[in-house]
Amino acid sequence: MSENLTWHETSVGNEDYRRKNGHQSGVLWFTGLSGSGKSSIANQLNKVLYEKGIQSYLLDGDNVRHGLNADLGFSEEDREENIRRIGEVAKLFADSGTIVLTAFISPYQKDRDLVRASVQAGDFIEIHVDCPVEECETRDPKGLYKKARNGEIKGFTGIDAPYEAPPKPELVLDSKTHDVESCAEQVWKLLQKKNWV
Ligand code: PPS
Repeated sequence: MSENLTWHETSVGNEDYRRKNGHQSGVLWFTGLSGSGKSSIANQLNKVLYEKGIQSYLLDGDNVRHGLNADLGFSEEDREENIRRIGEVAKLFADSGTIVLTAFISPYQKDRDLVRASVQAGDFIEIHVDCPVEECETRDPKGLYKKARNGEIKGFTGIDAPYEAPPKPELVLDSKTHDVESCAEQVWKLLQKKNWV
């Protein structure tokens, strides 16, 4: 970080935004393999939240890599920087009274833990979208597993790059046996249980 910087306190803060919106804010961090369904589930939940008048926003892997993180690839270092930047953005959204949903593979536990540690305690919910790699490979919605098997993509998560499943997520969604709507519903129930909504 540069020197000679001063943090400015703002007159309107997180608690003011939360009071105005009438609900808790924070980060819903979806993590899982490519093709596990994390984007579809987060998108469905975001729609539900929107329809209920809840202030929410979805940050999605491929989309963020088109803009903010267009300079990053898929090496371990680039994935780490990808998640670090997304974590910072998610924190800003949470500060603004928004429930932010993030859908990134985020394969390394240390990177997810850093984001958790950077937001207020209790404002981070880690959701493992759990689907066996064999099932993701069968689905292969973008044809990327096939390319990885052919050697056209190197370092593909689950094939020749690691995925570290979270040991203690707040929620595990079994997306092999449950459809998108039912997974989104499980997250909604957790938000109710935790009095976020
Ligand atoms: S990460 O690991 O969190 O930095 O990845 P993320 O930003 O979520 O981007 C994942 C999407 O990028 C595509 N893609 C790859 N995924 C994994 N490994 C490699 N090598 C790779 N190359 C491209 C793929 O479309 C991922 O999208 P999802 O939605 O997960 O299928």
